Amino acid sequence: AAAARYEAESATIVKGAAESNHSGYSGTGFVNGDNVVGSYVEFTVDAALAGTGTIAIRYANGTTDARPADVAVNGTVVSAARAFDATTDWNTWATSTLTTPVKAGSNKIRLTSTSANGLPNLDYLDFTVTSSDTEPPT
Ligand code: GCU
Ligand code: CA
Repeated sequence: AAAARYEAESATIVKGAAESNHSGYSGTGFVNGDNVVGSYVEFTVDAALAGTGTIAIRYANGTTDARPADVAVNGTVVSAARAFDATTDWNTWATSTLTTPVKAGSNKIRLTSTSANGLPNLDYLDFTVTSSDTEPPT
């Protein structure tokens, strides 16, 4: 199935703000998380069925150091202090992709900064889910 796109500027933002002062983003902007430990963006994504979710996070990090963030799904950290590596400048975007078990229906995906440098700028999250069941023959 095609990925569903969830714009960060439409997600729940705690200690940060939607901004648009750099180029190359999707939607109306991106989220600039405050440069502190614990700033977060939480996406609510819909899974058509329980299975393996693929989460592709588009971000920019115009510094020279990785910006680590915990990725939690429904309150469980599935990728601790995940490194969002430098992207040359704030107008250059990269995608970090991981997989995680998800339940059918609504799932909460939260990215929380774990360093005082805060989050990378976040553009969107693309989400797809595949069933853990065997595909029927075609
Ligand atoms: C700059 C940049 C912001 C970014 C910030 C940071 O201020 O313009 O978009 O979020 O650096 O270091 O986090
Ligand atoms: Ca910031």
